[in-house]
Amino acid sequence: MTDYSKCTITRYPTPVLTEKAQPVTEINDDIRALAERMKDIMVEQKGIGLAGPQAGVNLRIFVVSIDGTKENARVYINPSIKPEGPVVVNEEGCLSLPGLWGKIKRYSQCTVTATDLNGKEFTEVGEGLLARAFQHEYDHLEGRMIKDRFSAAAKLRARRKLKEMKEEYGE
Ligand code: NI
Repeated sequence: MTDYSKCTITRYPTPVLTEKAQPVTEINDDIRALAERMKDIMVEQKGIGLAGPQAGVNLRIFVVSIDGTKENARVYINPSIKPEGPVVVNEEGCLSLPGLWGKIKRYSQCTVTATDLNGKEFTEVGEGLLARAFQHEYDHLEGRMIKDRFSAAAKLRARRKLKEMKEEYGE
């Protein structure tokens, strides 16, 4: 039994953020508590999505709520994604990289297939911001963050900010 109710937001350079997350093997009360805590962290931090590693948990789970409310937050366990359509460039930020924004290319549509908290598989098609959120959160499960998708010029611009974060949030 793991007490997920005490999870807090992780920020770069916390190692779990760069690791590939592991599949959830059983949907039980622990996982339900984790999902609940992740929704709360997302709302507290004023985000529209949060992935397991951002709560310090190396599991393939994310929550998304496009309007940032807990009521509309949906939980995606062991998701797979199929991004499609034209590529759109837009500014993106991340709760684990506070104050860092950059232009990121994402597909304009994204189908996600995942398991819900009752163990039921579902499929959802996202467009626009929702499609972007699915791709962003899925990246976290692969240990990827927006800074890894920045252009070379944006990476250069991000250097100082990342250094500051290393000093603030590093060991
Ligand atoms: Ni993020």
